[in-house]
Amino acid sequence: MKKVGIIGTGEYLPKKVLTNAALEKMVDTSDEWITTRTGIKERRMRAKNEATSDLACKAAKQALEDARLKPQDIDLIIVATITPDMPFPSVACLLQNALGATRAVCFDISAACAGFVYAISIARQFISRGAYKFALVVGAETLSTVTDWQDRNTCVLFGDGAGAVVLGEVKSGGILSAYLGSDGSKKDLLYIPAGGSRMPSTHQTVDERLHYIKMQGNELFKLAVTLMAEAAQVAIKEAGLECKDVDLVIPHQANIRIILAMAKKLKLPREKIYLNIEKYGNMSSASTATALCEAVKEGRVKKGDIVLLDAFGAGLVWGACIIKW
Ligand code: UT7
Repeated sequence: MKKVGIIGTGEYLPKKVLTNAALEKMVDTSDEWITTRTGIKERRMRAKNEATSDLACKAAKQALEDARLKPQDIDLIIVATITPDMPFPSVACLLQNALGATRAVCFDISAACAGFVYAISIARQFISRGAYKFALVVGAETLSTVTDWQDRNTCVLFGDGAGAVVLGEVKSGGILSAYLGSDGSKKDLLYIPAGGSRMPSTHQTVDERLHYIKMQGNELFKLAVTLMAEAAQVAIKEAGLECKDVDLVIPHQANIRIILAMAKKLKLPREKIYLNIEKYGNMSSASTATALCEAVKEGRVKKGDIVLLDAFGAGLVWGACIIKW
């Protein structure tokens, strides 16, 4: 089995910033509530002409450049998203065309906020077995398109963005373990009711605002802490390591209180936790992807470091992987 690692990273955040102060004018909320309950100060919003594949393309180009590869070098493209440009074709196919990555096999995966960790785990299998040499894995979302801007319970939480990595064979280190979990019995805690085959789009579904995210935040909060901590513990153990060996945690950025409670369970100090929630809010699959990219850019990840990616989201789905940089 080949060792597989991350050989390039990239990100793209739309220019438009939506601050808590701006949200105060839209719904009955306050900067104080949002900051103390979530850790979010602002988030990015796509421009009207920016679809998920456009965000993905900009992040992907940066990751390819960082890996010093051309689009034609890529064998596999996986996009993790729950906000595709359209039901089909996949964002991955649209991205292939935009990049000119004509050799790549392309598909999307739907694993919500854990999508980036899921996609890394899948791409790793193809490369470690020698089926493909280079994979582009992207977490890209335009959650602003499925957010109910009249619902204060959810609209303060989400943002748009994209992060990308290139995976390839490495001489040492790389992805040491990947653990994934799912529980479909809790689907009603976080979902979009309409727009699929269960409830196809009608004037009524639109009038009833059923194409937007519905969430039971409180229940999810507790599950997120428990399941992210458990996922981390399994991935760390499978890598033959202990919690104290982890140098940097790149968690899904849903809520700073979830992240810190999870870190406490693992006895990991705050300095070892990478946070970008303050700037971007929850970008689902793009949160872990951009956080990894920014941590690398900022020099927070050094050669030989043990990095833990850890995520949780709608499904429910969760997952963690350990990467030796
Ligand atoms: O991405 C992965 C999946 N997502 C998650 O894991 C999200 C998990 N959940 C959370 O992050 C938190 O549950 C929230 C941030 C969504 C909510 O925080 P909370 O501390 O759990 O608040 P709550 O839902 O218990 O609500 C407390 C109060 C309620 O008022 P009452 O009923 O106590 O009078 C809400 O109506 O806060 C109220 N509230 C707000 N107040 C001002 C809810 N949203 C807002 C708001 N501004 N935006």
